[in-house]
Amino acid sequence: MHGLKQSELWSALADHYNEIKHLHMRDMFNQDKNRFDKYSLQLNDILYDYSKNRINDQTLKLLLRLADEADLSGWIEKMFTGAPINNTEHRAVLHTALRDQGDQPVMVDGHDILPEIRQERERVKLLAESIRTRKWRGATNQAITDVVNIGIGGSHLGPLMVTEALRPHALHDLNVHFVSNVDENHINDTLEFLKPETTFFIISSKTFTTQDTMVNAETARQWYLSKIGDDKSIGRHFSAVTSNVKLAKDFGIAEDNIFKMWDWIGGRYSLWSAIGLSIVISVGSETFDELLQGAYEVDQHFRHAPFEKNIPVIMALLGIWYNNFFDAQTMAVLPYDQHLHRFPGYLQQADMESNGKSVDRQGEVVDYTTGPVIFGEIGIAAQHAFFQLLHQGTKLVPADILAPIYSYHCIARHHRALMSNVFAQAESLMRGKTKAEVRAELVDQGLDDAQIEKLLPYRVFPGNRPTSTLLFDTLNAKTLGSIIALYEHKIFVQGIIWNINSFDQWGVELGKQLAKNILNELNDNATVNKHDSSTNGQINYYKQRRPKNNS
Ligand code: F6P
Repeated sequence: MHGLKQSELWSALADHYNEIKHLHMRDMFNQDKNRFDKYSLQLNDILYDYSKNRINDQTLKLLLRLADEADLSGWIEKMFTGAPINNTEHRAVLHTALRDQGDQPVMVDGHDILPEIRQERERVKLLAESIRTRKWRGATNQAITDVVNIGIGGSHLGPLMVTEALRPHALHDLNVHFVSNVDENHINDTLEFLKPETTFFIISSKTFTTQDTMVNAETARQWYLSKIGDDKSIGRHFSAVTSNVKLAKDFGIAEDNIFKMWDWIGGRYSLWSAIGLSIVISVGSETFDELLQGAYEVDQHFRHAPFEKNIPVIMALLGIWYNNFFDAQTMAVLPYDQHLHRFPGYLQQADMESNGKSVDRQGEVVDYTTGPVIFGEIGIAAQHAFFQLLHQGTKLVPADILAPIYSYHCIARHHRALMSNVFAQAESLMRGKTKAEVRAELVDQGLDDAQIEKLLPYRVFPGNRPTSTLLFDTLNAKTLGSIIALYEHKIFVQGIIWNINSFDQWGVELGKQLAKNILNELNDNATVNKHDSSTNGQINYYKQRRPKNNS
């Protein structure tokens, strides 16, 4: 919808916001006993409860109109059918094709891409299974015990998050490591305890030009060669996932070990592709298939469910409600399942690299706010860290809570303690604690009036802080696939309504460009004076403290 803020609907939403901003959710729940039934949805084993949000029927009605007026249905079809909706790069956006289990062709440039996707997946599985079953032998005929994925951004965060989340499925005698940081500590700490004879590297880079990844890849190769000394055996120990096959070959990787990516997969949407090789090696191809199945079922839901029953659509609309009308600048994601400890980091890239844009599809600077700052942490840990601000700070921070009904080991004592916190936090954020409640509590504790008056203001909780909760049976691969896809589609919907392209990332280019120039300046001891005084000062200070010959 062009001119979003000037639309009649936007004004209606702004008016509606003024009407309801003073309403307290505590009263809304008191007045409507059916709120939970009304404002929760279920998809397979996932319950999405969005009743603890500052909304009523009218809010939803207006927000749903936003989706219609943006022609969301049309855009969904465009995405699924391969239209070049990534307009600045003239590319289709087809991560959904990677998990498509159907038999309808998906056409890009006049040909069906499903056969090549499936063929590449079979190649990934063959390699992964041969490593898992110890058939794959290294240069000295030993089986592989350690796999190191070298990549960054989407070539790192998704696979890392998923392998951590599906840890119980991993083989105990095969370790999968992830190296992303160009800081030498990352690769050195990883390689320190590994043996080249039993280590297998995956160089994951869509472009095969990302500095961090290529520097780490070169160090890995040198480490391997310094110990094994045989260039030809590299094929037993190195593989690549990339859309730049030529550069991977130039690096010395055997063609058989190069797995393809396509330009219609964005890095942050790529874990479903061969970029998931580390996942398949870690958890096996059957588990990976379940992950794809879970995502596919959400794809079907997203494509076909009416918007008022469509979980990613509702998630997106609520985000817009807080972002654009309540002026909430952030959004917290709080998984209570320890295995999801990398989920907030993964989601930061997925969401912020997608929707952190300020120019719309027509090239105009937008006059409304777009993607929020995403942050998060394992819920229990966060309770003892930043929940103070969520409960009593001056900022409104809408939060998503994710929690399992069963943990893998199912020790009831642990799990009930965990879940009591899930329910209590969402309830207390919503209800808060009134002055009268605090006073009654302090009277019970035997405090006198003067003491009570002094303490009262600090002990009040304003409440009315929104949370949405995703409860799922257990964090198996299928459910995880579904959860990831829900968030991917939520991000898509928001991008459509904000009229931005969620699938490019020009904002990361400037830093890369400057780093390239500065890298040249660090190659000698000459004083640098081309930058502002701060940048010159820092570079020259660095060069003085660490002159070139003193590496
Ligand atoms: O710099 C950002 C970015 O381009 C991400 O979008 C991407 O996921 C990451 O770098 C890694 O890129 P590549 O897979 O090409 O190495």
